[in-house]
Amino acid sequence: MSHVLVFGASGTVGSELSRGLAAQGERVVEVTSRPPRTANQVQADLVTGAGLRAAFEGADRAFLLAPPGHVNQDELLGPVIDEAHARGLKKVVLMSAMGANADEGAPLRKAEMRLEASGLAYNIIRPNWFMQNFNTYWLQGIVQQATVALPVGTAKGSFIDARDIAAVAAKLLTSDTFANRDFDLTGPTALDHDAVAALLSREAGRIISFRDITPEAMLEGLLAAGMPKPYSQFLVVILGYFKAGYSERTTDAVAQILGRAPGSFERYAHDHRAFWAA
Ligand SMILES: NC(=O)c1ccc[n+]([C@@H]2O[C@H](COP(=O)([O-])OP(=O)(O)OC[C@H]3O[C@@H](n4cnc5c(N)ncnc54)[C@H](OP(=O)(O)O)[C@@H]3O)[C@@H](O)[C@H]2O)c1
Repeated sequence: MSHVLVFGASGTVGSELSRGLAAQGERVVEVTSRPPRTANQVQADLVTGAGLRAAFEGADRAFLLAPPGHVNQDELLGPVIDEAHARGLKKVVLMSAMGANADEGAPLRKAEMRLEASGLAYNIIRPNWFMQNFNTYWLQGIVQQATVALPVGTAKGSFIDARDIAAVAAKLLTSDTFANRDFDLTGPTALDHDAVAALLSREAGRIISFRDITPEAMLEGLLAAGMPKPYSQFLVVILGYFKAGYSERTTDAVAQILGRAPGSFERYAHDHRAFWAA
């Protein structure tokens, strides 16, 4: 029986996607760069290329992403797209990022273009900033200082719930309706970080504040947290795009694909309140 190969299956989107596909009766094989722990996992490393060819054995569809921490996304994803093509996969869904197609020279856009030109049936999904960043990347500052500190000023973002991204990916992997189309995925409304902090505070039962910081301070913090320098610099650049207002627009893509509205920040904050509790 053929199966869906899910890269990033232990991650924020991939874990929800694997669960969602399995719940629909799909067979899922999860890619991990670590030694497999369960029978439905396969080891492959997007950075070194080790195990990539073997990972595709028996797959007829695949979900791809570039692991965070790397800025050469085209080099990481190119061999994966080539292998998917060589294996004659029926569908490949690539998770990129909103704004990636603004610059044809950007590595992530180059990866997208390689998929578009591959002859494979594909979808590209470009989510906006994830709501889940507040219970992952930005969690330590919230827990330790009751602060979300980012260089984004009063700009708004139409944050998306990663559970909606996964539901969209599952739909695209199991239907031909939207073949060879790309979608910018957003949440239902745009919020600034004061509004985000107020919603987190309400759910946490304590005051959590937003602090606008300089790009330099952000870079320093990322480096101190052990993030590689090129990726830290990349994050600071894209946070600058957020500050410039590029993350504000909303799209109807989630509703178009799922037939329902995307989840609100209020719902996300309620469901994840245990992360921020005192
Ligand atoms: N966060 C945001 O706001 C945002 C917005 C738009 C787009 N994105 C995109 O979302 C993607 C990240 O997705 P996510 O947040 O769901 O992931 P995540 O939670 O950060 O997890 C990363 C995943 O990558 C896997 N991984 C790490 N190194 C690997 C390697 N060398 N080879 C193979 N797999 C590797 C990890 O699995 P193992 O540890 O098991 O190997 C893990 O499942 C990025 O491409 C990012 O650009 C993020």
